[in-house]
Amino acid sequence: MSEFVQPPQSTVTNCTAQDYEAAYARSLSDPDVFWLEHAQRLDWITPPTKGGEWSYDPVEIAWFADGTLNLCHNAVDRHLADKADKTALIFEPNDPDGEVRTLTYAQLHAEVVRMANALKAMGVTRGARVTLYMPMVVEGVVAMLACARIGAVHSVVFGGFSPEALAGRIIDCDSEFVITADEGRRGNKPIPLKVSVDAAVDEHDTRVKGVLVVKHTGADVAMKDGRDHWYADLASDGDCPCEPMNAEDPLFILYTSGSTGKPKGLLHTTGGYGVWTATTFHYVFDHQPDDIFWCSADIGWITGHSYVTYGPLLNGASQVIFEGVPNYPDHGRFWQVVEKHKVSIFYTAPTAIRALMREGDDFVTAHDRSSLRLLGTVGEPINPEAWRWYHRVVGEGRCPVVDTWWQTETGGVMLTTLPGAHAMKPGSAGLPFFGVQPQLVDAEGQMLEGAAEGNLCITSSWPGQARTIYGDHDRFVQTYFSTYKGKYFTSDGCQRDAQGYYRITGRVDDVINVSGHRMGTAEVESALVLHPKVSEAAVVAFPHDIKGQGIYCYVTLNAGLEGSDDLAAELRQQVRKEIGPVATPDRIHFTDDLPKTRSGKIMRRILRKIAENDHGSLGDTSTLADPSLVDRLIEGRVDG
Ligand code: WTA
Repeated sequence: MSEFVQPPQSTVTNCTAQDYEAAYARSLSDPDVFWLEHAQRLDWITPPTKGGEWSYDPVEIAWFADGTLNLCHNAVDRHLADKADKTALIFEPNDPDGEVRTLTYAQLHAEVVRMANALKAMGVTRGARVTLYMPMVVEGVVAMLACARIGAVHSVVFGGFSPEALAGRIIDCDSEFVITADEGRRGNKPIPLKVSVDAAVDEHDTRVKGVLVVKHTGADVAMKDGRDHWYADLASDGDCPCEPMNAEDPLFILYTSGSTGKPKGLLHTTGGYGVWTATTFHYVFDHQPDDIFWCSADIGWITGHSYVTYGPLLNGASQVIFEGVPNYPDHGRFWQVVEKHKVSIFYTAPTAIRALMREGDDFVTAHDRSSLRLLGTVGEPINPEAWRWYHRVVGEGRCPVVDTWWQTETGGVMLTTLPGAHAMKPGSAGLPFFGVQPQLVDAEGQMLEGAAEGNLCITSSWPGQARTIYGDHDRFVQTYFSTYKGKYFTSDGCQRDAQGYYRITGRVDDVINVSGHRMGTAEVESALVLHPKVSEAAVVAFPHDIKGQGIYCYVTLNAGLEGSDDLAAELRQQVRKEIGPVATPDRIHFTDDLPKTRSGKIMRRILRKIAENDHGSLGDTSTLADPSLVDRLIEGRVDG
């Protein structure tokens, strides 16, 4: 058991190993009673009497369906009775000398009411979809809560996506309203959010009729009469009651990449998602009333939804929200913020840990981290070396590390160790959270027992599960429930050890995980072939020291054209324009042809192996239409 790291003594207060055993067993034997009990973490207008009502064939999922509640009330209003003066948000700006803004729960309430009134003044009604394209500022969280307050459905689009990508997401859910800011700031770059919103709305066929603009940097931006409104002009303090929502009313849509086609808008509903994020936050982060929590994720991702906006606030936590980046003004920025705000629980992505590890320990040790008591990671597999550095250097060997595996589709944490309760195994996420029934299957769908490696499925529903893909339930069924009938398929490969610990090995579909961000290879390919000189493109992942995976693009050009550095630069620009900087190709490999079977199917396995520089194990290439191509591809491999 030497690969296991024992938890420090006496960290646990919310759940011991024995508590976990008992609760986990009960969550499987009696899920409805178990989850109806945990549903009491929330205030309900009508308490639910029903637990899970679900089937994976046909696919219909509901939890707490006869309950009514409002999640904004639960995240904000209900804390006014005993936590009005407790700090809810501590905003740390991009620039270390900038102004910190602290909001108590009472002040957060006032701000959410002002935002909700502004939305109503703009014409937003219950059920309307509202697109957020925001920097990481207080108003981002406030806008999400304001939507929840009035029963509108938020769709947050990460501020790093391009106007084209934003427009696609606005159109897909037929959103008539956008909330944005003049500009955002990340590191030494201003992010022209309002300019991008204008490009998205003006140059595409959207039905946007109202744009609410938060003044953040004070940049001069164009305002279109009748459509664009400054937040300060529409905000007002009058009463704005919380709309009673059914547990299964939509709370939000969040777009994420899959292996085929356009990004999918996963739909999460109110009651189950609220219970899941409230419960997982309490246990996974062992939350105590005087903790200062900090999750470094942007609200544009699911991590920012579940562990910035909902999980912490539903628990009445105090938390830092950070506008900046880990390496500005220097590589000690995270630890300087930890010291400044006395952060006790810190949650970030492996890619950030790897990038900071490379810069040496001095950036860490220069700052006092004695406030830290718990560390977490999410978004991609963490290599044991980075895990150990995080544990030993950042956490001084005294803080448990939780490696939390979950997905946009799962709503919250699914696999993790519980801090203090469980021994940790660097590189392994660990054990299933309450109610989670993982199963490993082989390619034929045969269940694997004991220590094994296979494809990770979940065999029963849990409250935080996404209910559908907005507007396309067939695609939801097809994507997640058709590969293995009757099971939710995660698209992740996974190993289980003799102790029952789960280690995620990575995606087994055509999704690349770049710095913890999901990118569909098909999306990047579609962006590349839009260039007039490109004939065909095939995109695969390769291992990348910092980003986890990098984007490797094989490109064929139209007859008579030759690749060049200039053209490669143009193609990178093309992808940034279509999707955004997160999708920027790392390597562009011009080739005269792509390896295809005689029936014309691209053999991605070969392309992956070559990109990974693993040509020793190319496997059978005899079915290729042109077997000699393989040598030319190996020859032309782009490195660095
Ligand atoms: C990967 C992020 C290994 C995985 C919350 C999953 C992880 C995808 C981990 C979901 C982890 C997430 N260890 N891999 N702890 N957490 N992943 O939807 O491949 O942005 O399928 O959700 O990230 O990414 P998503």
